[in-house]
Amino acid sequence: LAVQKFGRRLKNISYRIQERSADVFAALQEILSSVKIVHGFATYEKENERFKRINRESVKAVLKAGRLNSIYTPVMELLGAMGVAAVFWYGGYRVINGHMTIGDLMAFIGYIGIITTPVRRMGSNLGNIQQAMAAAHRIFSVLDIEPSIKDKEDAIEIKDIKGLIEFDNVWFKYPDDDEYILKGVSFKIMPGQVFAIVGPSGAGKTTIIDLIMRFYDPQKGSVKIDGYDVRDLSMRSFRQHLGFVPQDVILFNATISENISYAKANATTEDIIWAAKISNAHEFIDKMEKGYDTILGERGVRFSGGERQRISIARAVIKNPKIFLLDEATSNLDASSESQFQEALKKVLKGRTTIIVAHRLSTIIFADKILYLENGKIVEEGTHNELMNKKNGKYRMLFELQTKENIFASL
Ligand SMILES: Nc1ncnc2c1ncn2[C@@H]1O[C@H](COP(=O)(O)OP(=O)(O)OP(=O)(O)O)[C@@H](O)[C@H]1O
Ligand SMILES: [Mg+2]
Repeated sequence: LAVQKFGRRLKNISYRIQERSADVFAALQEILSSVKIVHGFATYEKENERFKRINRESVKAVLKAGRLNSIYTPVMELLGAMGVAAVFWYGGYRVINGHMTIGDLMAFIGYIGIITTPVRRMGSNLGNIQQAMAAAHRIFSVLDIEPSIKDKEDAIEIKDIKGLIEFDNVWFKYPDDDEYILKGVSFKIMPGQVFAIVGPSGAGKTTIIDLIMRFYDPQKGSVKIDGYDVRDLSMRSFRQHLGFVPQDVILFNATISENISYAKANATTEDIIWAAKISNAHEFIDKMEKGYDTILGERGVRFSGGERQRISIARAVIKNPKIFLLDEATSNLDASSESQFQEALKKVLKGRTTIIVAHRLSTIIFADKILYLENGKIVEEGTHNELMNKKNGKYRMLFELQTKENIFASL
């Protein structure tokens, strides 16, 4: 009986370890897949703390089980040996008496073997978990390495910004590549203007957004905000003013409130609801049983693409940023999500300099300027009407193609 009780306790603990290490890996996976969000919203310390906390809890669980295990193993071995001896003795006695066949006895001993194997394996599982933890630790220390993009020593702390964005003959290639991805891109967006970037997949649209966020630095030319080269600004200070909605909508395994207020530590409930309303997310959140306390499933699978995107937009606008960068998700939205998204966009854009990377051209017809990017170069630019007036223009062809697709889709 004591063994049973002890075993149950060990099982509980071993289960807890598995749970905790699952926590560690979930957190790790979240952080690794959301490096852009963590850096973009400058919440690095917050993530580091969160991970350390989860990891600490997990280590505690492992240590506790380890202690228990070191008592458990010798006791168990001894009891086991005694048990086997007893079984042989009593079994032999019954076989001799004719109450039991030799086959029954062998089967019984076989069963004991089957039971002891998982018990033994539990011990080696502890070792595996510890190894995995060490690996997790190593991965995390990689994140701790000094980033190649960092503030200058005399970086300028920028308080308020107007929202002027300028690309001046920007040439950029990714660190390990030979070929330039952006080849002399220049444009200037006045405060409050809405620019759209369109073009084929791989043209370099997301790369442009990444350069504004300063995830990378260009090899030639410069990216400027309010006339300052972003390399001269303190990253934390200028990213404060950027509302960033990445192409892959990344939501955390936490409540909707926590996801929306992610970048604003002191956000009030009013702030959160305000951001959700602007993003057209309030209505569907409010309808849910637990409302803003609803926890998003692993990687937010319980929501539709459109809903997740609107939560992601709310997270970007809660800080009321002067500059809004939206990399539209490629996933197809249904007609109602699409119009909800349109509405949200109209409200969000007011009073902000905006860049929208658009895949559905219907979302950006109203833009002050549309840049058509192909193979790292701007090949057409103008308003929707100007670009539609170009015979054999690329934008016009793409627009007509999408309109046709829409007609087919609605048939
Ligand atoms: N981190 C990276 N390292 C190396 N190459 C990259 C990286 N990210 C993108 N690229 C390459 O740079 C080019 C431009 O990519 P980018 O993501 O900017 O395209 P895009 O216009 O946003 O495409 P899409 O419409 O599919 O989102 C592509 O050829 C891509 O393979
Ligand atoms: Mg992209």
